[in-house]
Amino acid sequence: MRKFISLKTEVPGPKSQEIAKKREKYVAKPMGGSLSPGYIDYGEGALVTDVDGNRYIDLTGGWGCLAVGHSHPSVVSAVKKQVEKFTHTDFTAIPYDSFVTLSEKLAQLAPGNSPKNVALFNCGAEAIENAVKIARAFTGRPGVIVFENSFHGRTLLTMSMTHKAMPYKYKFGPFAPEVYRLPFPTPYHPSIEIKNFERIMTNMVNPETIAAVVIEPIQGEGGFNVPVDGFLEHIRELCSKYGIMMITDEIQSGIGRTGKFFAIENWNIEPDMTCLAKSLASGLPLSAVIARKEITDSLPGGSIGGTYVGNPLACQAAIEVINIIEKENLLERAIMIGDRLKKRFLAMKEKFPLIGDVRGIGAMTAIELVRDRETKEPATEETGKIVQYCVQNGVFVPSAGINKNLLRILVTLVITDEQLEEALDVIEEAIARV
Ligand SMILES: Cc1ncc(COP(=O)(O)O)c(C=O)c1O
Repeated sequence: MRKFISLKTEVPGPKSQEIAKKREKYVAKPMGGSLSPGYIDYGEGALVTDVDGNRYIDLTGGWGCLAVGHSHPSVVSAVKKQVEKFTHTDFTAIPYDSFVTLSEKLAQLAPGNSPKNVALFNCGAEAIENAVKIARAFTGRPGVIVFENSFHGRTLLTMSMTHKAMPYKYKFGPFAPEVYRLPFPTPYHPSIEIKNFERIMTNMVNPETIAAVVIEPIQGEGGFNVPVDGFLEHIRELCSKYGIMMITDEIQSGIGRTGKFFAIENWNIEPDMTCLAKSLASGLPLSAVIARKEITDSLPGGSIGGTYVGNPLACQAAIEVINIIEKENLLERAIMIGDRLKKRFLAMKEKFPLIGDVRGIGAMTAIELVRDRETKEPATEETGKIVQYCVQNGVFVPSAGINKNLLRILVTLVITDEQLEEALDVIEEAIARV
């Protein structure tokens, strides 16, 4: 008997099926499918109700955009108030306070003591792309170092920086030049020893031509990969040694998911620039580049920007998100969610040889599914079946990894323990069946 999940019709129900027919006709196919067969009517915290009245537990959090949950009342109220006043001016035409107040909050929250300032954009890819532009201008160098399994977006430059070919790079080349990819060692996939990293890097490219190293402190789409101890510190050291900007991509790992506002705080490292998006404005389009002031101040006014950047609705939502994280102790909550997830997943690992690894920091926790614990052969097909079983039984759980053989938890931090346990029961049933 489920307490939160309530499936009243077949899934998808008749109303969702009607919309799906229209979608097939009018929505561009390369936009992809959807994990949920039901079309959402409304969301509340970690729960989603579709247009046929079916209720699900959502562990996707809109692919990690909903740290404070679906329709948090404070976010709703802030956006409502703003929408009644004005929806857009373009900050460079008529400025507004929320852009400045949010920048102040982010600059003050950012790790390290150097003075920082903030540029706002619309999405993650735009933040990364602009951070690279800024790094190139500041250093006068063209090159960018990225990592195996990374995901940075879908614009020409960020697609080139992203690892996985299909579907992200399909036939979309030629790709942007001057992007160099290096291994990202983790305890479960120790692809390289730290002591060899500098040699491999400097054999591949002259570091004096590198503007930036762009790194996810914990890789998101790539499979919640936490680097081996000392790796991020080594990257920081190398960046300082060669005058390279260290840019952390916190688009998925930031905004509290790991129990710290920025994931990099788990290592006590000060990057030169940090990119945020996703949960920043609870799903409204907003991203940020937080940089050392000295770096951005070296560029001329008007050299970066965009018509919609730092939209006032999104800025108000983001200010609320930061307040909610503080008021509702969501950083602590992320740790508690992570402990609960790890406890349950480790118990499942004892039972099911399919689970090769349980990893993550705080609520950013995942399991890697393998056909053989020795060879670590990816259990891609099995992962797909588990995801589908969960969907059919009322839980949306995203997969991840270059081989799509992980289940990753991107749940809102306001999920209750009971809701989380119910979702985990469904995941456990799914693994047991597969
Ligand atoms: C780590 C990371 N960087 C960049 C992006 C791109 O963000 P957006 O889809 O908002 O452009 C994503 C999106 O999933 C991401 O997870």
